[in-house]
Amino acid sequence: MKILVTGGAGFIGSHTCVELMNAGHEVVVIDNLCNSSEKSMERVKEITGKDLAFYKGDILDRDCLNTIFTEHKIDAVIHFAGLKAVGESVYKPWEYYNNNITGTLTLTDVMRAHDVKNLIFSSSATVYGDPAEIPITENCPKGKCTNPYGWTKSMLEQILTDLHTADNSWNVILLRYFNPIGAHPTGLMGEDPNGIPNNLMPYITQVAIGKLPELGIFGNDYDTPDGTCIRDYIHVCDLATGHVAALKKIEEKAGLCIYNLGTGVGYSVLDVVNNFMEATGVNVAYSMKPRREGDVPQCYSSAQKAKEELGWEAKYGIKEMCRDSWNWQTKNPNGYKD
Ligand code: NAD
Ligand code: UFG
Repeated sequence: MKILVTGGAGFIGSHTCVELMNAGHEVVVIDNLCNSSEKSMERVKEITGKDLAFYKGDILDRDCLNTIFTEHKIDAVIHFAGLKAVGESVYKPWEYYNNNITGTLTLTDVMRAHDVKNLIFSSSATVYGDPAEIPITENCPKGKCTNPYGWTKSMLEQILTDLHTADNSWNVILLRYFNPIGAHPTGLMGEDPNGIPNNLMPYITQVAIGKLPELGIFGNDYDTPDGTCIRDYIHVCDLATGHVAALKKIEEKAGLCIYNLGTGVGYSVLDVVNNFMEATGVNVAYSMKPRREGDVPQCYSSAQKAKEELGWEAKYGIKEMCRDSWNWQTKNPNGYKD
């Protein structure tokens, strides 16, 4: 199939391009590079030994999208493009709603004008809010989000569901990612956050390499075995193969489907720090800090549905996730920047 990957230069998108190309699909990327580097596209080509088409463009730019759909016979779209910083979304809500929601409305409008109605959408476990059940199945009701970013995901799920309800020729797969970490095992691609990282693993690797003095652990008084929050960390390469599996569902014209992409295993913040130190032999200084607003105590998936219906399950364990994150950090201390 020929796949348009929006946001394909980003962390998850670039790894997904590799897995798509390795599986024999052709890839076209649109990315405005607002949170990524075109260098990731070079790395995709280096790893796969294959070429892809790259458009530096914005999903809000209808003309650019029209050009792409005219120049390429796209079979399906995997839609990663979006702003994703939880904290930033609180003080820039308009920018988040406009980019993520107007962007997706523009994209889907151009798609239907070109009669392309196959879409895989990057959603998030954040739509479950403080989850009503653990492990979280796809039947768990959506919850109250704690920030505008989360609401964009929740609202877009609704918008795309309504689109399918009104026109059953749409095939829409909503993938709810848990916590992607790790990097490509070659060390050629990984997560490249701007400034001080917000997320746990890039913070850990930057402490380990000496860029940051210590990790603050946000809360050790939660109702969990060691008092720190529990998450379902998933290797980004596993997440990427989940998209290849979802494409098969699109080919079956399955209509609207929702899948969790997680491992089904929860690790606390302290578990991650300890596994990182064991996997790499590098010390990570840390201290306990107050709780971070908006964090839920536990969030991990039931990975059963994706296993049964997509034939997909995560292969990498926490040690490999830590090893590959560290490999990327040490080989690229400044990410994609020179
Ligand atoms: P990322 O920031 O690395 O990738 C997103 C890409 O989209 C970037 O390359 C950015 O330049 C591009 N982009 C943003 N707005 C755009 C626009 N208007 N037009 C064109 N390109 C645009 O983020 P990621 O971690 O790879 O996440 C990919 C998707 O998965 C996002 O939608 C994100 O919300 C979602 N997601 C991520 C996580 C996570 O923890 N990383 C968890 C759940 C869901
Ligand atoms: N944490 C720390 N110190 C840090 C950073 C994080 O203790 O410096 C803790 C957090 O409090 C949390 C855990 O590490 O308990 C994981 O935090 P992350 O920020 O890495 O991830 P979140 O679970 O908060 O959120 C991530 C993405 C969201 C996405 C969600 C579910 O950032 O966009 O996973 O997929 F919605």
